Amino acid sequence: MRLISDIPVLLYLSYAVLHSFLLHTLAYEVCSNEAGGGEDGICPNGDTCCRRPDNSWGCIASDMGRNTATCCSDDSFTGCPVGYTCRSEEHDCIALNNSKSRFADPLTRVLPRYRLCHANEIRTVHGLLVNASSMKNSTIHAEIPYFSNMGPLERIPANVSSTVDMALIIIHGATRNGDDYFCAAKATLELQDRFSNVLILSLNYYSVSDDRPRHSLLYWNSKDADGQWRYGADSSGPVRYSSFSVLDQVVGQVQRQFANLQRITVAGHSAGGQLTQRWALLSDVPQNGGNYHFQTVVANPSNYAYLSPHRYMNGSWTIPNNINCPDYDKWEWGLQSGGDADVRYRDEALAKNVTAVLERYKTRNVYYLVGGLDRCNVSESEASGWCHSHGLETKCMDMWQGSNRYERNSRYVASLRRLGFGGKHHQRLVIPGVGHDHSMMFQSPNGIHAIYYGVPEGTNVETAESR
Ligand SMILES: *[C@@H]1O[C@H](CO)[C@@H](O)[C@H](O)[C@H]1NC(C)=O
Ligand SMILES: *[C@@H]1O[C@H](CO)[C@@H](O)[C@H](O)[C@H]1NC(C)=O
Ligand SMILES: *[C@@H]1O[C@H](CO)[C@@H](O)[C@H](O)[C@H]1NC(C)=O
Ligand SMILES: *[C@@H]1O[C@H](CO)[C@@H](O)[C@H](O)[C@H]1NC(C)=O
Ligand SMILES: *[C@@H]1O[C@H](CO)[C@@H](O)[C@H](O)[C@H]1NC(C)=O
Ligand SMILES: *[C@@H]1O[C@H](CO)[C@@H](O)[C@H](O)[C@H]1NC(C)=O
Ligand SMILES: *[C@@H]1O[C@H](CO)[C@@H](O)[C@H](O)[C@H]1NC(C)=O
Repeated sequence: MRLISDIPVLLYLSYAVLHSFLLHTLAYEVCSNEAGGGEDGICPNGDTCCRRPDNSWGCIASDMGRNTATCCSDDSFTGCPVGYTCRSEEHDCIALNNSKSRFADPLTRVLPRYRLCHANEIRTVHGLLVNASSMKNSTIHAEIPYFSNMGPLERIPANVSSTVDMALIIIHGATRNGDDYFCAAKATLELQDRFSNVLILSLNYYSVSDDRPRHSLLYWNSKDADGQWRYGADSSGPVRYSSFSVLDQVVGQVQRQFANLQRITVAGHSAGGQLTQRWALLSDVPQNGGNYHFQTVVANPSNYAYLSPHRYMNGSWTIPNNINCPDYDKWEWGLQSGGDADVRYRDEALAKNVTAVLERYKTRNVYYLVGGLDRCNVSESEASGWCHSHGLETKCMDMWQGSNRYERNSRYVASLRRLGFGGKHHQRLVIPGVGHDHSMMFQSPNGIHAIYYGVPEGTNVETAESR
């Protein structure tokens, strides 16, 4: 009712004010009541707020325990998951002995600390207008949802755009927590010293079941609980638009708008890692050839799109008899059509020349990151202790790629090596001591290298741990 009577007044307000007025429905934690939370006082929904030594507020991702993670007060800017305490001298987190928390992982008595993010930008989700000329029906208003550390792209002034030297585009996991991933990406900024002005965009692939802050934001159906956007399916509304077209458009926009970029990184974890790998394979957006380096970071996905029908079974690479698992090599697990959904983007990308697509992928920089402890294959309901798999996918098509994410990663990279994908462009990086956790993956030394510096050929491709 209020909204209706406010409309004449709103008409006189600027777009900016209207925008922020409408966006107040986005949920977030208010860390402090001082001055109504203040600019510095908010965290993504479900995060734990921690006060930092400079009196600002930092956030621990909700995956570390909904509102219950542990702030490390001794040093400063770090925290631990629920069920762990901070150890000052070792600068790590150690599991509480009596903890019944699911975070007290039998695999990980000791964890690296988590770097707090500082997330005053997650009050609003911005929208990039869907490219109308690529739509069948261009009359519908539809937007690609994203979080940004520089506000909406179209309002970044030219004199600021010209100072942006790197863009990091981050893709969330199956729970679609783009705000948390934004936060995790921001925390990596302080861990690098190479770039001075990094644009961070965290995309949000909403489900129809989500409470979207605006009806114009794209959403996907919920036929697949982990999201059909993982493998390029079209959105369900307000228009049909492939999740890969979304990324194509965002990358294209970044390439056009920021003339002095030295680096573009697209990084996804878990379901976001799946999307990133498949997009890097199928997209024809130029990834080489600019004045900048381009790479994709594929962290801890549940499965991969294989490039050949061979799988590692019973100790050797073979084309398996698929009577009991007929879909094992269909899209999204392999290149054949069929699988969980008809994906128009896949059909078009592979229609002309599959060999050319594979040759192109060979020249793309893809870093395959895996947590050295992302080895759990126990579902949450069965798990006692923290060793639950965080939604490991377990259809036969998945199991034929390996029994846990660590094994699937190592086998997938081995399958690429068999096809002649060399170490320069396609590299495997193990993150020691880390399980299925986006913050710790991205904030690890190898994660920082993959995102910001690149990885020289042969670095840590195999470690003692990864064998
Ligand atoms: C847990 O128990 C072990 C062995 O009893 C002990 O050495 C260790 O200090 C305990 N850790 C904590 C955090 O209490
Ligand atoms: C929009 O889509 C058309 C057709 O696919 C393409 O040629 C054009 O470059 C796109 N424009 C933007 C701004 O992405
Ligand atoms: C485009 O969408 C609008 C709004 O839903 C609808 O009225 C119109 O008929 C559609 N046009 C075409 C060509 O499908
Ligand atoms: C960009 O220009 C505006 C208006 O001229 C100015 O206020 C601002 O400080 C400039 N920013 C940068 C980074 O140069
Ligand atoms: C692997 O070995 C098991 C047990 O011997 C057998 O049942 C299965 O069919 C084999 N799988 C393949 C793909 O050969
Ligand atoms: C497909 O692409 C490959 C590699 O670029 C090329 O050698 C081959 O001639 C192409 N085949 C066709 C039918 O265009
Ligand atoms: C879990 O993985 C282990 C190997 O790490 C395997 O032996 C076991 O069968 C797997 N369990 C299930 C339920 O898949």
